[in-house]
Amino acid sequence: MADEPLILGIETSCDETGVGVVRGHTLLADALASSVDQHARFGGVVPEVASRAHLEAIVPTMERALTEAGVTLADIDAIAVTAGPGLAGALLVGVAAAKGYAVAAEKPVYGVNHLAAHVAVDTLEHGPLPEPAIALLVSGGHSSLLLVDDLARGVTPLGATIDDAAGEAFDKVARLLGLPFPGGPHIDREARAGDPAAIAFPRGLTAAKDLVAHRHDFSFSGLKTAVARWVEARERAGEPVPIADVAASFQEAVCDVLVDKALDACRSSGVETLVIGGGVAANSRLRALAEQRAARHGIRVRVPRPGLCTDNGAMVAALGSHLVASGVAPSRLDLPADSALPLTTVSV
Ligand SMILES: Nc1ncnc2c1ncn2[C@@H]1O[C@H](COP(=O)(O)OP(=O)(O)OP(=O)(O)O)[C@@H](O)[C@H]1O
Ligand SMILES: [Mg+2]
Repeated sequence: MADEPLILGIETSCDETGVGVVRGHTLLADALASSVDQHARFGGVVPEVASRAHLEAIVPTMERALTEAGVTLADIDAIAVTAGPGLAGALLVGVAAAKGYAVAAEKPVYGVNHLAAHVAVDTLEHGPLPEPAIALLVSGGHSSLLLVDDLARGVTPLGATIDDAAGEAFDKVARLLGLPFPGGPHIDREARAGDPAAIAFPRGLTAAKDLVAHRHDFSFSGLKTAVARWVEARERAGEPVPIADVAASFQEAVCDVLVDKALDACRSSGVETLVIGGGVAANSRLRALAEQRAARHGIRVRVPRPGLCTDNGAMVAALGSHLVASGVAPSRLDLPADSALPLTTVSV
């Protein structure tokens, strides 16, 4: 609707420079420039390289987004920008750009939490999020279960990984199987030809005693080590490593735990909506398993399309739009970039 606020979102927390434009819950533009190829040979994101790439990409990406949306900066009602968490130098580029555009065009600016934006992006596909909801946030740096009572004002963490993030586990296992970085999409593809029951890998923090102290927490480090030991044993025996079976069995172990713990959080909180966000939410097996098991419990699963799960500017614009609609005040112009912004702070 033309009277809904027009929001621009800027994302630079890691290796994607994203600028999105939304009107209300409608996505108008989602321009992206990635420096992922520049990091691939290092097997992980190099912060200085990422910052430099953001600096080069931010203005052209901004221009592309405005053109794609068919609007000018003067038409925008508010600018939202990722204030954290993320790489300090990378965040600074986006925050400085947002302030510059906000001052030049006399627009309010909202410094927002990247992780809350991973949850908010789903509203662009499925409309307003019914609250309360449970959010399963699974990305390169985080794996958390959150109770979302009021996404505009705060979320309640129920549990998180006690070691590696799910995306990190995908990337590390991909590396030991000789697959390129980032590994998640490659494992997803290889797994399609494999048998998920071929190897019984461990399900972290699911033993009866762990469910007492860590009911809503995750652990993927033991699983990663188990995969490494299994692969090493094959190599030592001079036998070929069945990559598709290892990928499928590893992926099954991750998804099995993520889905069961997320549905358990819904049941224990009496919540009927589960929203899944972050890069790992793009995983085809996670999406299928969540749908399948949630249906048995009468729980509705919402997962944005894969392209909106990984980092982008539209997710930041979506959260900005929700904040404006909820009457949240804009940030001060001296808002900081905070690499360790806590999950509970939705906007600064
Ligand atoms: N199809 C997939 N299956 C599994 N993992 C995937 C898939 N696609 C992407 N990923 C993983 O998602 C992660 C990237 O997600 P995202 O862009 O949200 O992370 P990030 O922004 O680096 O971390 P954070 O959001 O915690 O700051 C990587 O670890 C990548 O391997
Ligand atoms: Mg992310």
